[in-house]
Amino acid sequence: MSTAAPPKERKKVTTVTFRLKAARGETLTMLTAYDYAVAAAVDRAGIDSILVGDSLGMVVLGYENTLPVTMDEMLHHSRAVARGSEYALLIGDMPFMSYQASVEEAVRNAGRFLKEGGMDAVKLEGGRERADTVRAIVTSGIPVQGHLGLTPQSVHQLGGFGPQAKNSEAAIRLLEDAQILEQAGCFSIVLENIPARLGEWVTSRLEIPTIGIGAGPGCDGQVLVTYDILGLFDRFTPRFAKKYADFHGEMARAISTYKQEVESGEFPAEEHVLEMEQEERVRVEEWLNEKGH
Ligand code: KIV
Repeated sequence: MSTAAPPKERKKVTTVTFRLKAARGETLTMLTAYDYAVAAAVDRAGIDSILVGDSLGMVVLGYENTLPVTMDEMLHHSRAVARGSEYALLIGDMPFMSYQASVEEAVRNAGRFLKEGGMDAVKLEGGRERADTVRAIVTSGIPVQGHLGLTPQSVHQLGGFGPQAKNSEAAIRLLEDAQILEQAGCFSIVLENIPARLGEWVTSRLEIPTIGIGAGPGCDGQVLVTYDILGLFDRFTPRFAKKYADFHGEMARAISTYKQEVESGEFPAEEHVLEMEQEERVRVEEWLNEKGH
């Protein structure tokens, strides 16, 4: 008789179990997804959380940056991801100008991610200037994840996608912002492209989990853009991302092999072809002969 423990029943990750996992000292895993197929693969791999990031503007839609992404585009992709995942905590990224103009508009748009997009929570960028917005969304019953450091929606203000908070003044401001976001009700904060030491300082000073992307190993969890780890986005790979596969190269190889095989007649082969039953074929041939075709 086997003495092995029965496999643990897998349960849906919620913002509560997300926080509890970090409190137990277990590292949280998060990846982006923008469609059904990738969401299903990420979910089946047991990743804790899927972010429908506005990075989809660059890696899926081919925009120069994330600024043109609309609510409709985000909701379209959120629904596909929701259909592909069963267990992961689903976070919808609020696109540029969906939460900046007014608190009311922010609450309404955050609500659309849950009502129309099938998401469990939303993420938005910014520190103290977003505290009222975070408070209002959380008060409406919608969990919010903050995002500090490199905040790509402020690319023009930051002057590019480079590392942030490298000097003491900016680092102290970020530490304060993280505490303000926690007090405003965020259940977690993403820290992007900041010194590893600062990632550690923020993490040790907050009760809520930090998720790092280029913020060192001292965060409670890690997130990367799935298109970067799969090598699907060919324009650039950020310094902090690790490429675990070369899907872009693999895709190019598969497509040119298909082209060669179609041109040479190797495809479609016998196994790809549907033949008619002999009796039916003979009837059509007789009809063709009768008609003189
Ligand atoms: O849009 C996105 O994918 C993100 C991650 C980089 C955290 O915000």
